[in-house]
Amino acid sequence: MANGKTVLVTGGAGYVGSHTVVELLEQNYNVISIDNLVNAYADSPTEKPESLKRIEKLTGKSITSYNIDIRCKDNLDKVFKTHKIDYVIHFAALKSVGESCAKPLQYYQNNISGSCVLFEVMSENNVKKLVFSSSATVYGTPQKLPLDENHPTGQGCTNPYGKTKFFVEEIMKDLCSSDSEWSAISLRYFNPVGAHESGLIGEDPSGIPNNLMPFIAQVAVGRRAKLSVYGSDYDTIDGTGVRDYIHVNDLAIGHVRALDKFCDNNFKGFKPYNLGTGKGLSVLQMVEAFKKASGKDIPYEIVDRRPGDIASCYADASLALKELNWSATKDVNAMCKDTWNWQSKNPNGYQTKTAN
Ligand code: NAD
Ligand code: UD1
Repeated sequence: MANGKTVLVTGGAGYVGSHTVVELLEQNYNVISIDNLVNAYADSPTEKPESLKRIEKLTGKSITSYNIDIRCKDNLDKVFKTHKIDYVIHFAALKSVGESCAKPLQYYQNNISGSCVLFEVMSENNVKKLVFSSSATVYGTPQKLPLDENHPTGQGCTNPYGKTKFFVEEIMKDLCSSDSEWSAISLRYFNPVGAHESGLIGEDPSGIPNNLMPFIAQVAVGRRAKLSVYGSDYDTIDGTGVRDYIHVNDLAIGHVRALDKFCDNNFKGFKPYNLGTGKGLSVLQMVEAFKKASGKDIPYEIVDRRPGDIASCYADASLALKELNWSATKDVNAMCKDTWNWQSKNPNGYQTKTAN
């Protein structure tokens, strides 16, 4: 497909951003990445992030990259003045739920103020087509399952991180109402896991992982002794928490489909879409699948429930199928196999530098 349009990707060096950059390049988009390296690795503050270097190797294409913060209006404006940008995909955010409870202002400042600065610079430079990384967390505790886009949002968002996603969605709604040239698509991710099948890029959490899949992967590779399973007394198939895990490559393709939507002249305003498989899997089912994919034992211990957790969460993703022509294609075996491929080739993430 001939493309040639230019996409500015904020947070392009991060986990979901980097996988989306690969898809964009493969669809012949030009990519400009902005990342302040708060959660991405580079050999030095002035060098291209390691994930992007590897993508250039993988795709044979080049990425324009700026190690800047979206909150710095002057720097951001320079990028918009230097390049003719058609679309923005906005990934840049802090994303740790626990940290957001301890440092709420940091999260509101980075995720909400940062988004406002970005939207302001976009408006001033007449770039008014935006795809935003949202989360199923905006639905709070599900009133019914599966979750569809009509489920109320913002009620029962128990942590500042989740609230930032809800607030930014509200800001985008107001922006689109105020100016009919604006279109914004909010993609509500369920639980992204997996890695590019090359094993060159993947999830590289700093410190102890909060999320299940990277924790399991680090147990399998010997970096952690055992997994703590947070509760076995939920009303689920085996008592452990159930989530809708989605392969990050499927998620990445969802972003490209969202950009395609902007070519439809009838598409206007703000629209959210769920990106999930529609299928829930329990913690113990994930452990079993990972054991099979890796051939490694995954020792675990059942501990108390994690505060703020819900029993089950999975998507009704039929709207994305109907309107974006998108559905998930990769199953849990691919999710575990690709995670293991990445983790075993890069036991210490990007700093290992041994991937080939
Ligand atoms: P990530 O931390 O790997 O990527 C985010 C990137 O943004 C990082 O590289 C970080 O350095 C950069 N960044 C953060 N603040 C910035 C700023 N002020 N200026 C410039 N760059 C900045 O996270 P991810 O998992 O790739 O998540 C991407 C987006 O998707 C985030 O908005 C996140 O909230 C959302 N999301 C993620 C998940 C998930 O499980 N990974 C689930 C739902 C939603
Ligand atoms: C978490 C965040 C959510 C965020 C999402 C991104 C919380 C409360 N919620 O969701 O806001 O959008 O990540 O992917 O942090 N589990 C264990 N042991 C572990 C880790 C997790 O048993 O070491 C269990 C959890 O209890 C849950 C499941 O695994 O049942 C998935 O947990 P996790 O990967 O953290 O995702 P969420 O809780 O769905």
